[in-house]
Amino acid sequence: MTEFAADRLLLFGATGDLSRRKLLPSLCALDADGLLPENLAIIGTARSDLDDAGFRDMARAALEEFLPAERRGSMATFVNRLSYQQLDASTLDGFETLAQKVAAAGTGSDNGGLAIFLSTAPSLFGPTIAGLEHAGLTGERVRMCLEKPLGTDLGTSAQINDAVAAAFSEDRIFRIDHYLGKETVQNLLALRFANILFEPIWNSNVIEHVQITVAETVGLEGRVTFYDDAGALRDMVQNHMLQLLALVAMEPPTSFDATAVRDEKVKVLRALRPASASETVTGQYRAGAVNGQAVAGYDEELGKESATETFTAIKAHVDNWRWKGVPFYLRTGKRLPERVTEILVQFRCVPHSIFEGSNANGGTGLQPNSLLIGIQPDEDITLSLMAKVPGLDEDGVRLREVPLQIKMPDAFVGQHRRIAYERLLLDLIKGDQTLFVRRDEVEAQWEWVDAIRAEWEAHGVTPKTYAAGNWGPSAAIALAERDGVSWHE
Ligand code: BG6
Repeated sequence: MTEFAADRLLLFGATGDLSRRKLLPSLCALDADGLLPENLAIIGTARSDLDDAGFRDMARAALEEFLPAERRGSMATFVNRLSYQQLDASTLDGFETLAQKVAAAGTGSDNGGLAIFLSTAPSLFGPTIAGLEHAGLTGERVRMCLEKPLGTDLGTSAQINDAVAAAFSEDRIFRIDHYLGKETVQNLLALRFANILFEPIWNSNVIEHVQITVAETVGLEGRVTFYDDAGALRDMVQNHMLQLLALVAMEPPTSFDATAVRDEKVKVLRALRPASASETVTGQYRAGAVNGQAVAGYDEELGKESATETFTAIKAHVDNWRWKGVPFYLRTGKRLPERVTEILVQFRCVPHSIFEGSNANGGTGLQPNSLLIGIQPDEDITLSLMAKVPGLDEDGVRLREVPLQIKMPDAFVGQHRRIAYERLLLDLIKGDQTLFVRRDEVEAQWEWVDAIRAEWEAHGVTPKTYAAGNWGPSAAIALAERDGVSWHE
């Protein structure tokens, strides 16, 4: 692997939504904190007919809209890094001019290199790579970063991966899962592997089940074609949720480096047992109210009827020694009552309670412990422990669950919350792949998801309805309750 810090960043899809909302704001925030290489030039390209000045104006407007003023630093300094080349990536014409622009933006130093960020429609990935090859922009000192969706199933994902692999070796390919850029997601690794407390109990002997929830209040948000073709399983489970599951379930890697971490994640993904139709629930929202606001149903937003799921709940199993018999309940959906991403680790009951029967009022209140890891919006870690209720215990000892809670923002006062892409863009520029998804991981993820879709097809599964503002269809509650489990709310 060639080590270098990129001195040029080429953004495809530079005028698009992701670029305006996340990429340009992240880069500007990094610049404000003095974290970008001093000589880094950022070249935007897209179909829009703009010149450098027009692109800079667009960037300024995006920063004002999407980056809080206190994080902007000197916008003028940042904007000076930007230049633009119009390009229709579907044809080879224009790539040579683009290559000239990229060359002109460089410092000419032998130590530099190019990082390319593709945030375009996947249908343009192939032609873009062909154009880059044609223009000599795929050499050893070029990295390629890809945004999702990387295909719609294993086959199409393999096609994209093959096309990229024809021009870039795997150690130069950076596949984004923006959840891995979230501070709290990385903190999962710190929690598990920087503390001695958890590892000895992190297995089926002590853990009864795990819940992973990624709930959103938003609906379709105008992404009509993309979302209706994808659905919750492919949009959220295939990538973000399976990455969260892998981080929870993986064996301790030998070090925090790209190969060691990704080797362990992929083992978990490959150990996922194919889920049967009866272990899954799908839903689609109807009109309802979210946060007190009336909202339309999915089909009304879409303008037609559709069988796409906007919610899914799955009971997953990791078939290995550590997790034998421990269900992982996953659920995600749009138009749910609140925006929350969290992981609940539910421990087993104590093997023998010395307090049983000591309370005349029926039961001591003894509950099994749990660990709740908040990813967003609250970044809290809460360990629920049993404590004795103060009193003279005339009717016997009474116990109550009390939280041992760490509020991350309070524990690290003065540190600002960063956009997930800040970390990922910086790692791309520096060439650290630890927080990017390797091909074998993506493919293991697709394999599992494709098998679920095949089950749905074989059993004619169509989404059950739920009113917006509810936690999905009632079948999702039943999926857990059948096992005596309640979703954490
Ligand atoms: C994206 C999905 O990958 O993640 C969106 O395509 C979803 O549908 C988004 O809204 C959620 O990301 P976050 O960071 O807001 O939780």
